[in-house]
Amino acid sequence: MKGAFYGLKITQASLILISFVCATVLILAWTKTTFLTSLIPSQSSTVLLNPEIPPDLTDGAVSEKVLEGKNSSKEAGRDKVAVVGSEKALGGKNSSIESDRDKEEPVRLSSSESTIKEEPSKNLVTDDKKKEIPPSITGSESDKLLEAKNSSKPAEKDVVGTRSSKQSKSSSTLTEKKGCNYAKGKWVIDDSRPLYSGFGCKQWLSSMWACRLTQRTDFEYEKLRWQPKECRMEEFMGSKFLKRMQDKTLAFIGDSLGRQQFQSLMCMVTGGEERHDVLDVGKEYGLVKARGSVRPDGWAYRFPITNTTILYYWSASLCDLEPLDPSNPATDYAMHLDRPPAFLHRFLHKFDVLVLNTGHHWNRGKLNANRWIMYVGGLPNTNRKIASISGAKNFTVYSIVRWVNSRLPKYPGLKAFFRSISPRHFFHGDWNTGGTCDNTTPLSGGKEVLLDESSDHLASGAVNGTDVKLLDITALSELRDEGHISRYSIKATPGVQDCLHWCLPGLPDTWNEILFAQL
Ligand SMILES: *[C@@H]1O[C@H](CO)[C@@H](O)[C@H](O)[C@H]1NC(C)=O
Ligand SMILES: *[C@@H]1O[C@H](CO)[C@@H](O)[C@H](O)[C@H]1NC(C)=O
Ligand SMILES: *[C@@H]1O[C@H](CO)[C@@H](O)[C@H](O)[C@H]1NC(C)=O
Ligand SMILES: *[C@@H]1O[C@H](CO)[C@@H](O)[C@H](O)[C@H]1NC(C)=O
Ligand SMILES: *[C@@H]1O[C@H](CO)[C@@H](O)[C@H](O)[C@H]1NC(C)=O
Ligand SMILES: *[C@@H]1O[C@H](CO)[C@@H](O)[C@H](O)[C@H]1NC(C)=O
Repeated sequence: MKGAFYGLKITQASLILISFVCATVLILAWTKTTFLTSLIPSQSSTVLLNPEIPPDLTDGAVSEKVLEGKNSSKEAGRDKVAVVGSEKALGGKNSSIESDRDKEEPVRLSSSESTIKEEPSKNLVTDDKKKEIPPSITGSESDKLLEAKNSSKPAEKDVVGTRSSKQSKSSSTLTEKKGCNYAKGKWVIDDSRPLYSGFGCKQWLSSMWACRLTQRTDFEYEKLRWQPKECRMEEFMGSKFLKRMQDKTLAFIGDSLGRQQFQSLMCMVTGGEERHDVLDVGKEYGLVKARGSVRPDGWAYRFPITNTTILYYWSASLCDLEPLDPSNPATDYAMHLDRPPAFLHRFLHKFDVLVLNTGHHWNRGKLNANRWIMYVGGLPNTNRKIASISGAKNFTVYSIVRWVNSRLPKYPGLKAFFRSISPRHFFHGDWNTGGTCDNTTPLSGGKEVLLDESSDHLASGAVNGTDVKLLDITALSELRDEGHISRYSIKATPGVQDCLHWCLPGLPDTWNEILFAQL
């Protein structure tokens, strides 16, 4: 009797214990969910700017956006694709529209000295700059009102993705951050992509890279998401990014591909929405348009909500460039291979995240055209090993990485990345000999990267043994030959395709997702 009594008690006790555990688990799950949902309204309320009805529908693009606005569900992306045809039929945008804005010299290439295939682009630095105008901050107002309408698609998508996976992810993300090789994995089709509309983001996205505004009709490339093999990659959310970057500054320094990554990040953080609260703080960094130039050397924007600054500075070579005769407009420049760009030297202390890149400007034609003369140790270079283009590039990449690394002890909070080379895809020729990249079938050359090592041996070698991290995007980008601007270059010189730069939204978004996962 007594034993039975105690037995009952034990059973009851176990039952109570089990219920307690279950309840705890439920409560935990519940609080997590509500915690998440409580985050959401604040985000979307910042994103949903203007519920007003469009004032007029003057061109095809606008009416297309109206359609888009009505169906702003997760599947809007798919609808958009279907709608593109009618937009064109309405006599909308032509690829030559806005061709005066944001021109960038396509892809000029002369030598094949380097082992990694790259090179192309620009002639004169000054030329480059003249050809490009900063992303317009004042687009047509009606466009913006339209886009503001119910178009918090990315935020909604994020929410969905997060709800289903956050619990399982959150604990593992931190541990994965360190060891994970994000470069290894595969491309998958995901209807939650792209993270912003290529019709929007006019505040940040140069029209020359907005392939949705051209005559291109295939947009399958927008739907691809990179999935690392050995780790979960945290879902990008603009609000999470800003929160993590509270009171911080992220700087991209590099060539036009770095600028693409910068514009991509601005679009990702804003979801492509017009943001009137974002401040242009270029002045703080001396990024103002000089007299006679068409655009400044870079841009800097601040999100006041979190006091987060994102900036880009144009440095194609990651060298310090010094006019040999400042009074002569046609002066040669000392290209100090062993000195960081003056801008980086001056502002490094203000950066919390730094993303460097270089590569495509390293060819003899460009150096000559820019009148850049290699200097080492403050004197014209006499070292034969460094004098070749590949030698000079190697020397410079190692120098800049070592310099940044040497600064890290002083700025322990600084996360420094060197982004590996972005591949070109000129088939059947080169940029100037009819090379093309007009394949429209994604991943026709495979969808997986299984290598453990980076395909960019120069960059991976340079960061090896330092605390500078490699943002390794080369191999995964190799698989994306269909994602370039291709023949739809606004410049549209017959026979010349841009198989260097990428459509946005597009591949650089993935680079930023991988970057975000490591912040
Ligand atoms: C909205 O989507 C639904 C189904 O997805 C479709 O039937 C309808 O035509 C769409 N409306 C517009 C205005 O695109
Ligand atoms: C688009 O531009 C091309 C030249 O770039 C021109 O031949 C064509 O007529 C234009 N189409 C429209 C609809 O404006
Ligand atoms: C916008 O979305 C909200 C809910 O997400 C919905 O209640 C509202 O009717 C939508 N507005 C329009 C104009 O589609
Ligand atoms: C914004 O962040 C910077 C550091 O990046 C800090 O120095 C500054 O005080 C912050 N401003 C405000 C208003 O908190
Ligand atoms: C690149 O530079 C590093 C450091 O100076 C050197 O160790 C390496 O051998 C160089 N690589 C090539 C391919 O020149
Ligand atoms: C990094 O350097 C070590 C030796 O210093 C070498 O064993 C290793 O292969 C290098 N890794 C890469 C990716 O270059």
